[in-house]
Amino acid sequence: MLNEDAGDDRPASKIPSRDPMPRLLILFAHPAYDASRVHKAMATAARRVPGVTFHDLYEAYPDFDIDVGHEQALLADHDRIVLQFPIYWYSTPPMVKQWEDLVLTHGWAYGQQGTALRGKQLLCAVSAGARQEAYTPDGFNAVSIRQFLLPLEATARLCGMIYHEPFVIHGTHRLETEGIAAAADSYRDRLEALRDAQ
Ligand SMILES: Cc1cc2nc3c(=O)[nH]c(=O)nc-3n(C[C@H](O)[C@H](O)[C@H](O)COP(=O)(O)O)c2cc1C
Repeated sequence: MLNEDAGDDRPASKIPSRDPMPRLLILFAHPAYDASRVHKAMATAARRVPGVTFHDLYEAYPDFDIDVGHEQALLADHDRIVLQFPIYWYSTPPMVKQWEDLVLTHGWAYGQQGTALRGKQLLCAVSAGARQEAYTPDGFNAVSIRQFLLPLEATARLCGMIYHEPFVIHGTHRLETEGIAAAADSYRDRLEALRDAQ
């Protein structure tokens, strides 16, 4: 088969394939966006990354009345999923839990017929007020953010997803303008790497 569009005779197999749909879906959950400093900058950076669908769950569902069909359709359309949220009480904000409880249904996300998420990738992109040292074995919180997020990792495994090392901005309480800008830049880099990885 020839590449007629390009007007040459290269075999079709050598033509870089065009991606017809955005690959990266960011599910953003911040209960107090107006007061946010760090995620506001991260969200602005993320929205500018080509190939990203940015979906603000608190904006879409102020009453927690999640449209399950819409959420499942979004997941089906993307193969790389990012859950972006601030760490609240060593866990996720409640919207993330509500989203999991309603959207990840048996027979769709898991179970014998539940293969919709199989092979997709999941990255948690979070921020924490405490510094990184606090999330070490000798630190105040004793374990890492990845360990606090183990329920999400187990959920990803149950659904057959590939779980990535979380992207974490630590020590947000001490971040000034420059540090917040650097956090947003490194988030953008991580998103681009996730988008472009084979
Ligand atoms: C209700 C609440 C609970 C929080 N719990 C934690 C926590 O368990 N661990 C931590 O390191 N920071 C905690 N923080 C700090 C937030 O994670 C931090 O303020 C946030 O990541 C900053 O991002 P933002 O500027 O986008 O809001 C908490 C903040 C609030 C408001």
